[in-house]
Order: sequence, then structure tokens, then C-alpha cells
Amino acid sequence: MRHLLQRALQSRTFYWNGLSNLRTCAQGFRLYSKLDQFCYPVSLKGQHCLNKRDFRSGYFQSANCSLSRSCYTNVTTSQDLKSENEEVLKDASEDCPVLEAISYWTREFETAGVPEPDASAEYIAAHVLGYKSFSLISPLVRNLTAEEKTKVWKLCEKRMNRMPIQYILGEWDFRDLNLVMRPPVFIPRPETEELVEHLWLYLQEDLTREEEDLDVLEVGCGSGAISLSLLQEFPQACCTAVDVTKEAVELTQHNAERLGLGDRLDVKQMQFNTSADFGTKFDVIVSNPPYIWTEDMETLEQEIVGYENHCALHGGTDGMGLIRDIIHIGHRLLKPGGSIWLEVDPRHPDMIQTYLNNHLQYQLQLTGVYQDFNNRPRFCCLELRE
Ligand SMILES: C[S@@+](CC[C@H](N)C(=O)[O-])C[C@H]1O[C@@H](n2cnc3c(N)ncnc32)[C@H](O)[C@@H]1O
Repeated sequence: MRHLLQRALQSRTFYWNGLSNLRTCAQGFRLYSKLDQFCYPVSLKGQHCLNKRDFRSGYFQSANCSLSRSCYTNVTTSQDLKSENEEVLKDASEDCPVLEAISYWTREFETAGVPEPDASAEYIAAHVLGYKSFSLISPLVRNLTAEEKTKVWKLCEKRMNRMPIQYILGEWDFRDLNLVMRPPVFIPRPETEELVEHLWLYLQEDLTREEEDLDVLEVGCGSGAISLSLLQEFPQACCTAVDVTKEAVELTQHNAERLGLGDRLDVKQMQFNTSADFGTKFDVIVSNPPYIWTEDMETLEQEIVGYENHCALHGGTDGMGLIRDIIHIGHRLLKPGGSIWLEVDPRHPDMIQTYLNNHLQYQLQLTGVYQDFNNRPRFCCLELRE
């Protein structure tokens, strides 16, 4: 596929949306395959000539072979397109085709070193047009109105300032839920969807659960992603969700109300520590705690450092600060047979095992360590011995 893309670009009969050279072309293709979103080869009159299904079925390959410059006597090259459009794009009052706006901002982002330049431009354009993703924009080939263009330009400026796309859009999906996102509340990551999946499977296996209550404590709820997912999946569940920051507590509450899950959720602003007491016990304690090591804090991307709460990230010298507190009082907060579920750094499972070996009085056993999609050990299940 890579050499076909190269040939298409070299032949200059296609303008390949958003991709101005082979390197980004190859990157773009990989990225879009993963996200199930695709770039569309477009003729240079702005008509998109291949759709997603054609692309998948290899139509692009045959199109590439059969369409030559001679078939398109009026074809403009991508270089020409770039220079023609620079002028139109600079004038905010001018209408401009969606695809050209995306290409323009992709290039701007690339030049400025903004990560995921093409996905960023596409998400923003899709959002302004009322779609969740670029692949859903319909019709793909149309002009942005002056108002839409102003909005796209404003949001893209934010991205130029390295604001995460989730904050720019003001929403993001987590499993089946659509959650409001607001800085500086931590943006839920795909790995945390995996944590919830493992916990979900674990609870599903326990068939008696259907009739029983399921009391969950979440430590560090952020936007509410974990608690709200569990409440949605388990109608018998009740969650207590705590977070040290006011912004997180308010956002979790707001998301719960939007999703109609507020009546089974108790959100508290508190600093969880070894003296935490809820006057009740839980079947499950779940947390994606701040677990980044002090030495690693300097390596974080600009998007994270500049916009997300520091206390959502930094877990102390060895990233284990809050993890140790949770383990320390876990046995006091758990019902018999209860479990603790944690998302951690890959170095932490071994450290947790050592910590438990040195603190047998906690009566906790590390019964499961699960890998994330990069095959790194990231999720731990600790069960209270009965
Ligand atoms: C990594 S974020 C996880 C947020 C959310 N659970 C998620 O997965 O998207 C960690 C959260 O823990 C909160 N937090 C940090 N230390 C805390 C503490 N001692 N007690 C309660 N919350 C804390 C932070 O404010 C932040 O919202």
C-alpha cells in the first residue's frame, strides 16, 4: 500500500487529503486504519472520488493504475492547490472547502510540531460541522460557511497552543458513554477503558451478583468515567466517587446528571488518605490513581503539563503514594471477598507484590495482573482473603 500511495503522490494526479508527503502519508494510513477512519483520495476539482468501501476493497489500487494525468486534463497538482488556496484560506470571510481547511490546518500543525496533525484538524472540522468524526462528514465535499470557518480557525488556534483535542471539543467518549471534558480535569485514557473491561468481566463471572447489591468506591474520579461506566453496566451498583479537586467532583456530578445516573452516585470532594472512613464497606475499590514517578514528570507532553491537573498525574518519588494508601486501608473498607482494582505503571505490579509480602497484615493478595494493548502489565486485582 505504501508504494501505491507514493506513486499516487508522485503522479500528481491525486491530491491526497491532508497528506503532503510520503512520511505523513504512511503515518496517516496507519492511524486511520486503527481508528477506522480513512482519508479519501480526491480529484483536484474538490470532488472526492473514492469512498471508504472502495478504499477497503482495493479500488484505490485499480484507480491508481487506470487513472493517469491524461484522464484528468484539468487536474491541478497538490502543489498548485496549496498555493492557490493559501490566499483563500487566509481570508476569514471567504468560504472554503472542508477538505482544504483540513489540509491547511494539517500542514500548520505539522509545521508547528503539534502531535497527530491530521486527526486534530479532522476532529475539529467534524465537530464544527456537527459530526463525531471525519469519516462521518456528509457531504464531505462542501464549503465551510464563513461562520463555520471562523469556528474552525478559532478551535485550531487552540490546538496550535497544544490544548488537547478533548478539551477543545468539550466532550469525549469513554466506552459507551459520552462525557463532558473540561480543563483541568484529567482526560480518560483508552487504557482505563481496559481497566473497566477487566473489572466488568470479573464481576460478570460472579453470577450471584445479579441479585446482590454492588457497592463500589472510586478513588480519584476525575470526569467520572470509571464510576459512570460501572453504573451504566450494572443496574444494581451504587458508587461512591471521591476526588481531591472541586473541578473533578463538579464534572463527575455534571456527567452523572446528563447521563441520568446521578441517583446511584455519591460524589465527595476529599483527599483520600489512610484515615479515610465512609461509614460503610464496599465490594470493589477501583482507582486510576496518579502514578507517574517524579523523575518521569519532566518527560510529559506539553498537552498534559499545560492543561491537566498536576495532582492527577504525580504519584510521588516511585509513583506509589496513593496506591500505598489505598492498599493500607483496603482491608478496612472492603467487605469480605471484596477486591481492589488499580491502573498502574508497568513497574508497579512487582512493587505491589513486594509491598504485600512485607505487609501480610493487610490480608490482601495480588490475584491478577493484566496487560494493556501494548502488552505492558498495567492493571492489578488485589483480593481480600476471606
Ligand atoms: C489519573 S486521574 C484519574 C481520573 C479518572 N478516574 C480517569 O480515569 O479518567 C487521578 C485523579 O485522582 C485525583 N486525586 C489525586 N490524589 C487524590 C487523593 N489523595 N484523593 C482523592 N483524589 C485524588 C486527581 O484529582 C485526579 O482526578
